[in-house]
Amino acid sequence: MEFKLMPGGTVTGEARVPGDKSISHRSIMLGALAEGTTRVSGFLEGEDALATVAAFRAMGVRIEGPEDGEVEISGVGLHGLKAPAHALDVGNSGTTIRLLSGLLAGQDFDVEITGDVSLQKRPMGRVMEPLARMGAKIDGSDGKPPLKITGGQALQGIHYDLPMASAQVKSCVLLAGLYADGRTSVTEPAPTRDHTERMLRGFGYEVKNENGVISLAGGGSLQGCEIDVPADISSAAFFLVAASIAPGSDLLLTHVGINPTRIGVINILTLMGADITLKNEREVGGEPVADIRVRYAPLKGIEIPEDQVPLAIDEFPALFIAAACAEGRTVLRGAEELRVKESDRIAAMAEGLTTLGVQNEVLEDGIIIDGGPLGGGVIYTYHDHRIAMAFSIAALRAEQEIRVMDCDHVATSFPGFDALARGLGLQLTALADD
Ligand code: S3P
Repeated sequence: MEFKLMPGGTVTGEARVPGDKSISHRSIMLGALAEGTTRVSGFLEGEDALATVAAFRAMGVRIEGPEDGEVEISGVGLHGLKAPAHALDVGNSGTTIRLLSGLLAGQDFDVEITGDVSLQKRPMGRVMEPLARMGAKIDGSDGKPPLKITGGQALQGIHYDLPMASAQVKSCVLLAGLYADGRTSVTEPAPTRDHTERMLRGFGYEVKNENGVISLAGGGSLQGCEIDVPADISSAAFFLVAASIAPGSDLLLTHVGINPTRIGVINILTLMGADITLKNEREVGGEPVADIRVRYAPLKGIEIPEDQVPLAIDEFPALFIAAACAEGRTVLRGAEELRVKESDRIAAMAEGLTTLGVQNEVLEDGIIIDGGPLGGGVIYTYHDHRIAMAFSIAALRAEQEIRVMDCDHVATSFPGFDALARGLGLQLTALADD
């Protein structure tokens, strides 16, 4: 599928974007390992989260739905998973493979996990290394999928000082820690999303955070519960930027997760001069949510504070479009993790920005973008959903048509993006590939 976008438009109305991807994955994983039933609402019916559902079904867990965002999981307990008949194929989902590696390292059966072409290029050494230290046996050629996990290993609790700010690695180690002897603890170079810690507590499992040392003891149990998944701020981000850059826009996004470890996009846009207000702040199932109103405002280029980088790590494709539409220069540093996402997001975004005529300079760990007029052209997405959505919203300020190639992956995180974008004011047509 390809998106054709006519230039210009205004973004108005009210919308609830699909459920949070990170929280949706974790609701299935912990629900499956809990005792009793877990009911989830607001679940993301995107391909990545469905890959997690399929993986647990393949390991004998009864999961009903998702239907209208509702899922019911009949937990099998921490030791109730069964060996799958085949390798688990988790598609494009880095979160599934990395969190599952931790969980499956402690089982008594062997399992292989693989995924699509994009996933097969992504680094897994970052989870293999701490898991090996815990006593797990995991093989992956060149530190890439497929991963082969040999079951029946006795895991030991360790302390792991994370070399990079990664919630997936943190979560992987903590989930392996559920099966380890003694305590497992981690420290991180900068705070990352804490949905695993919050949700484990919601399932009645004690997780401590003492001066940044996050720890749990193995050998406990999880109790099934109810989970209300907020709308994904990472999906909302495209429309936060869209309304900020398109003159005349006024948009309300409802029930959006505003966990402090995820709101870098709001902080950065606000520093750039965006007009964003939070309303109706409340807490649902241990996660803060709010309705977010965003109105057009002229943006200015900034030096993005490095402490905001892990808090906005998935939102940079959208933020680069904001920078392209801002007056002056935006500088991003300390963001080398962007190179190992679903694509090398620094390279893929720089290429697209250059196509649109936006001056930019690629750095090893970031990018410099000079705001200016946006032309049009053909954009390559490198199998990356967020590259596709970022250049779709760019059309609001472009002077010519933009064609975004290979947009099928948008469904991994944001099913219905094209229809919602049209409803809010983008002039987007989805075309089937020839
Ligand atoms: C995620 C963590 C982040 C993020 C990804 C989801 C998670 O990855 O980019 O989309 O759910 O834990 P890293 O841990 O690799 O930074």
